[in-house]
Parts: sequence; structure tokens; C-alpha cells
Amino acid sequence: MYSFFLIQIHPVLMLIGLIIMGGEANITYKALPLKKEIKKLIHLILHAIVLILGIVGICAAFKNHNESGIANMYSLHSWLGIGVISLYAIQWIFGFVMFFYPGGSESLRNQSIPWQVLFGLIVYVLALGTASLGFLEKLTFMESLAGVAKYGSEALIVNFTAIVTREYYSLAPLVLERQCLRRL
Ligand code: HEM
Ligand code: HEM
Repeated sequence: MYSFFLIQIHPVLMLIGLIIMGGEANITYKALPLKKEIKKLIHLILHAIVLILGIVGICAAFKNHNESGIANMYSLHSWLGIGVISLYAIQWIFGFVMFFYPGGSESLRNQSIPWQVLFGLIVYVLALGTASLGFLEKLTFMESLAGVAKYGSEALIVNFTAIVTREYYSLAPLVLERQCLRRL
């Protein structure tokens, strides 16, 4: 029962964290009509919460595997997942040191912004890809182990959730590219 909870909570934490909150954190600078310093703080705090949820979500998946005697790190999903969370942590630490505390010189900060934007978007798109593989794996397990029907309502729910996740949140990078949406 406990291990069932652990493997169910993994997708929930990863989706709420990396995909939904991460997407919102990325568009903070464009979406909120606030002062730049306040937007920076919101961006930083939201990404910190995302990182914590991501780490807890991955620990839940590992704990479930260990307690159920399942091997760790055998799938492409798990390899990409560890890559994504590691890049996310590096991006957060870099952003914190460069733009918040102690903060780089003005010219260094200006040179770093395009890299912060580019790598932030790359990590986000990688997270979307990893989540898609997670949905695929979850449904395949449910179909082969739990007898879920291939065209049944549960299969449709999983696939449509995956489509909504991908299509809706892949619009976030587009929003960031639209200069007319920028609020400074
Ligand atoms: C970007 C978000 C995600 C990341 C970074 C991530 C990361 C990981 C990692 C590192 C593991 C390996 C655990 C181990 O080897 O013990 C794992 C396992 C798993 N994840 Fe995710 N995950 C994400 C989203 C999802 C989603 C959305 C689902 C399903 C709807 C999902 C389903 C699974 C399943 C079924 C496993 C166990 C099988 C396996 O190890 O491949 N994940 N995940
Ligand atoms: C994993 C964590 C992070 C990710 C994925 C990320 C991602 C992004 C993205 C996508 C942008 C582009 C936003 C836009 O064009 O409107 C951006 C901009 C920025 N981020 Fe981050 N970020 C992270 C952490 C941080 C941290 C901790 C700071 C520290 C304060 C920070 C400071 C900034 C700044 C100053 C900008 C430039 C805003 C501008 O003037 O256009 N980021 N980040």
C-alpha cells in the first residue's frame, strides 16, 4: 500500500513541480506587471520550490523501487530524469550566484542573461520530453501488468493528459519568444 502511494505520488509531484510550476516560473518576467526586483524574487522562489518537489518526487520513485525489489535506473526515462534534475539544480545555482547573491558585475550579468534564458528553456523542453516518456511507461505497465484495456477509458485519460501536458506547456517557450508580451 505504502509503495503504491510512493509510485503514484511520483508523477503528481513531477507534473505539479517541473511542468506546471516550472512553466509559470519561466514566464514570471513576461506575465507579471510588477517591479523587476520582485519578479526576480518570485522567479527564484518558484524555481526553488520546483527543484525541491522534483527531488522529493524522484526520491519517492527510488524508494518505491528499493522497497519493491525493482532495479533502479534501467529506463531511458530514468536516465533523462536524472539528467534533467541535475541540469535544473546547476541552472538554479548559477542563476542564484550570478543574479542574486553575491551577484556578478553588471557586464557579466548582461552577458549571462541570454545563456540563462537559453539553458532555462532547454531544461524545460527536456523535462517535457522526460514526462512524456514517463506517461508512456506508466501506461505500458498498467496495460501489461494491471490489465488496463488498450482502448479503455484509463488509457485514453493517460494519453490525453500527456497530450495536454505537452501541447499546453510547450507554448510557454513560445510566449517567452514573443517580444510583444514582454512587460518591463
Ligand atoms: C520531468 C519529470 C520527471 C522526471 C525528472 C522523472 C524522473 C524519474 C526517475 C529519475 C526515475 C527513476 C527511479 C529509479 O530508477 O528508481 C523515474 C521512474 C519512473 N517514473 Fe518518472 N520522472 C518524471 C515524470 C514522470 C511522469 C509524468 C510519469 C508518469 C505519468 C512518470 C513515471 C515513472 C515511472 C512509471 C517510473 C518507474 C519506472 C522507471 O524507473 O523508469 N515519471 N522517474
Ligand atoms: C532551474 C532554475 C531556473 C530556470 C529553469 C530559469 C529559467 C529562466 C528563463 C526561461 C528565463 C527567460 C525569461 C524571459 O525571457 O522572460 C530566465 C530569465 C532570468 N532568470 Fe532564470 N531560471 C532559473 C533560475 C534562476 C535564478 C535562481 C535566478 C536568480 C535570481 C534567475 C534569474 C534570472 C534573470 C535575472 C533572468 C533575466 C530576466 C530578463 O531580464 O529578461 N533564474 N530564467
